[in-house]
Amino acid sequence: MPFEINPDIAKAKTISTDFYLKEKYFEQSKEKIFCTTWQFVGDTDQVKDQGWVTPVTLLEHYLNESLLLSHDKQDNILCLSNVCTHRGNILAERPCKLNDIRCKYHGRRFQLDGKFLSMPEFKEVENFPAPEDNLSQLPLFKLGKWLFTSLNKSHQPEHFFGDMINRVSWMPFQDFHFRPELSRDYIVNAHWALYCENYLEGFHIPFVHAGLNAVIDYSNYTTEIFPYSSLQLGLAKNDELFFDLPPGSPDAGKKVGGYYFWVFPNMMFNFYPWGLSINIVKPITPEQSKVSFLSYVWDENKLRQGAGADLHQVEMEDEDIVQHVQKGIRSRFYNHGRYSVKMEKGTHHFHRLLADFIN
Ligand code: FES
Ligand SMILES: [Fe+2]
Repeated sequence: MPFEINPDIAKAKTISTDFYLKEKYFEQSKEKIFCTTWQFVGDTDQVKDQGWVTPVTLLEHYLNESLLLSHDKQDNILCLSNVCTHRGNILAERPCKLNDIRCKYHGRRFQLDGKFLSMPEFKEVENFPAPEDNLSQLPLFKLGKWLFTSLNKSHQPEHFFGDMINRVSWMPFQDFHFRPELSRDYIVNAHWALYCENYLEGFHIPFVHAGLNAVIDYSNYTTEIFPYSSLQLGLAKNDELFFDLPPGSPDAGKKVGGYYFWVFPNMMFNFYPWGLSINIVKPITPEQSKVSFLSYVWDENKLRQGAGADLHQVEMEDEDIVQHVQKGIRSRFYNHGRYSVKMEKGTHHFHRLLADFIN
């Protein structure tokens, strides 16, 4: 087994730097990690009305899978392959409203649920159409308005998202609105997993994030581990903004300034009193990643306050440190580190999952 992480954090060493440096593990991670788990594909507002289709490239530059979100006439939202079953042409190139999906190469038509409808000049073709002439339909998991799919559904979505849902589903997710002008992509010169593991510990907050450290109570910062996700709870310091929690919340009575959920392997859901910042970490090369920050606002008046006030500043600070680590792991003198038992549970858990999926 190429990677072993001791389950006892007090004894464990961090994952070998081979994981970040060797091209073969970057390649193996496609099938072993990213295809077997759940990936963000968009939200229901992108296909709001019946007849709308929206193309999505799943992890462009990495998995590069062309998919199509479709809202069919039976009022179902589906995730389909966006590749014509005749010669492999890409079907939809931009969001549009349709009666049926028509390939512009040779005119094959499909229903909005992917079922084959018609094909010119195919009368003599035997055993046609067959089930494989329909567009493949992928599993789709809905969490509020957010949509996730899995290329090779080997895990139940509830195992990945259930703990987050139990904790924060009291929030009115349908009232969260996507705000493109508050959203952006960052190119980070680091391996995707280095970016994730930095996110997974609050240990660096007092050292790296002076502004954030001034508004959250570092001494009461906690990390909770779930099977395929984790939660860091940031409590508000002094008079800083915190959630108005309903009585049924497991956190009732706490001054929660931010819920930082991470879902294996590459998704972060940061809930603040103003709404949600989703961060998707997208591998490009072993040394470069794109991180998409998607802002969904629930309460406009609470923007620019508390722990979620200045995400760009915090991102710049994280990028700087993670890019330094990317250089450091190439050193002949560094192969493993150790974990703080109190502060780095999230990183240890992540490394264990990476090792489990790769081995
Ligand atoms: S590739 Fe679509 S009809 Fe030929
Ligand atoms: Fe950070």
